[in-house]
Order: sequence, then structure tokens, then C-alpha cells
Amino acid sequence: MPTRSFLMTAENIMGAGCLADAMTVVKSRGFKHALIVTDAPLTALGVTEKVAALLHERDIEVSVFDGVQPNPTVSNVEAGLAVLQKAGADCIISLGGGSPHDCAKVIAVLATNGGAVVDYRGANKVKKTPLPLVSVNTTAGTASEITRFAVITEETRHLKMNIVDRQLAPLISVNDPELMRGMPPALTAATGMDALTHAVEAYVSIVATPVTDACALHAIKLIGQFLPRAVSNGRENIEARENMTYAQLLAGMAFNNAFLGYVHAMAHQLGGQYNLPHGVCNAMLLSHVQAVNASACAPRLGDVARALGVDTTGLNTEAAAQAAVKAMHDLARAVGIPAKLADLGVNREDFAMMAVNAMKDGSGATNPRKLSQAEIEAIYEAAF
Ligand SMILES: [Fe+2]
Repeated sequence: MPTRSFLMTAENIMGAGCLADAMTVVKSRGFKHALIVTDAPLTALGVTEKVAALLHERDIEVSVFDGVQPNPTVSNVEAGLAVLQKAGADCIISLGGGSPHDCAKVIAVLATNGGAVVDYRGANKVKKTPLPLVSVNTTAGTASEITRFAVITEETRHLKMNIVDRQLAPLISVNDPELMRGMPPALTAATGMDALTHAVEAYVSIVATPVTDACALHAIKLIGQFLPRAVSNGRENIEARENMTYAQLLAGMAFNNAFLGYVHAMAHQLGGQYNLPHGVCNAMLLSHVQAVNASACAPRLGDVARALGVDTTGLNTEAAAQAAVKAMHDLARAVGIPAKLADLGVNREDFAMMAVNAMKDGSGATNPRKLSQAEIEAIYEAAF
């Protein structure tokens, strides 16, 4: 077996109410001026101010860039970098879900390396250590707060650029489920299904290891148990919220090292083309892609079925894999994911173009089967 490594953010602060302690850790690292990178809704909800107040109490100066959009763009990165340079901040605190974290990672790279966003497209292009980044999560799904990945949309071509570099992984991650109580059910469902997709794609990946398997399987188990509760009663059920933070972190540990597959490769095209939420795109494609993958990884999909609570006693390997496909589909429907791509304004005429672009997306490289353009188009069709 070739050499494998397991990359992980060095410090991960977790648990209900941990935000204040996390900001004390930021202070202990000696930072003097933080740029908070976030989005306008979090500022409107008062969350940005809450973090800023905790930093002020610890004598850390604060500047704010809250212009990150869902599916963050090259322009978002450039605008955030301009705020950073004007303020002279010595660290970045990304606050939000995947979009602020991804945007902040690339701002941190440009701050110390210079150049343009597009220069870092692909793998391992970062030369110098980025500005230190502390990622405070407010959703439970992307795990961007611990990963080496950033996805930035090039708005002129509606294309998502994957940037992959171990130096993108933040210095510290913060997962405080108290910050997630207010997440609406639809966002809870979409982000939770994104985490499930990370875990499943990492588990069936061709570079999975026993370390990533352990992370992935426990993530799947927790998501099966707690995602429906977090969606139906996320404001009161802090236990469900907390378990989803652990689940998405474990799924992130898995896919940060075992990588992804064709669900993400195909979802990136829907997100880039129609600006649809990443988690919804994954949720709608997950069961269809795994149905096609089953010929290559049926025993592993049987494990997924059991982790989701399906009793596979008496089922042969193929039937257990199909039970996993059904369980993933049923979970998506149970948490309110839309049934058909057609309902989201997706055009059938774009399938060929999106299939071509999905084949170029690096996420597909570790999928258990190589898929042809015709097979990818057929999966879009099945989800349509
Ligand atoms: Fe994802």
C-alpha cells in the first residue's frame, strides 16, 4: 500500500458554549487584530457583534468583512483582502458555514503569497504559510473549518474552482452548537446531508484507510440518528445539534484525507450553473451516484446501510448495497430535501455540458468507479 498521511487541524474546540473559551485561546496565541470574515445575514442576526464583543473584551482589535455570498466568488475574496490590507489585521476569524471559511482561506493565502485567486486553482500551489485562520462554524455540514479545500466560483464563467492545499487548513476550528440553534430546518437538512455525502464518498473512496473509515462510519451513524431531530427540533434539542457538530467534524476528518467522489463532482456543476445550495445538490445526487457505484463497492455500501440503522440480516451483498441507496434517499426525503432537480429550475439541455465539466472536476478522481459522460448524464436524468 502506498504511503498515506492523515491531515488534521491542530486544535479543535468543541462543545455547547465553547465560543468564549475559544476566543481566550485566540488571545493566548498573541493575536492583536482580527479580521472577521462572514456574511451579511450573520451580521443582521447579531452573531458577528457577539464574536467581536468577545474579542474586544480580550483586547483584540476587530475589523469586519461581511460580504461573503453563498458560493463565494473571486470578487468576494478580493473585497475581503482589500479590507484586511487596509486594517492591517494579523489573523482572520471566519464565521459562518462553508462559504465564509472557504473565502477566508483564500484571503489568508493571498495576504502572504500575493497573486490572484486563479493562480492557486488545483493542488499544492501555496508557497508561503498563509495568515493564521480561526474558523468558527455556525452550520454543521461542510467541515470547511478543518479541511484543506476551498471552492471559489469564477463568476464570469459560472465555474467552481477547487483549491486544494494542506496550508489551507485553518489553525484552529471552533464548533459551538449554541451558534447553530437558530439554523432554519432547510439549512440544517442541507448542511447535514452534505456531511453525510462527505462521509459516504470518503468511505467508498479508493484511497480510504482504516483511520478515515472509522471517522466516516461513526459520522454516518450519528447523522442517521440525529439529523432528523436537529431538523425537526433544532432550537430546543441541543443534544441533536451537538451530535451533528461531531458528525460533520468526523465526516470532514474522513474526506479531508480520503477525498470525495462523483456526487461532489456533479453537485459542483449544479451549484456553479444555477447557484443552488451545495448541500441540496449533494443530497439530491447521493443515492443516484451510489446506485451506480454499487457494482464497485457493494460491501462498503452494506456497511453504510448498517450505520444508518438498516437491518441487513438475510440480505446478500448486492441487496444490502441497494438498502443503503434506499436509506440515503429516504433520509433526504425525511428531512425535506426537494425530490427532483426539475423543481429547482435545472434544465435538461445543460446535462451534457455539466457532465463534461463534472469529468474535469478533481473530486471524481477517488470515486470507486470511473464514470463515462453518458453515465453522468444518466445520473442527472435519474435525479431530474
Ligand atoms: Fe460538500
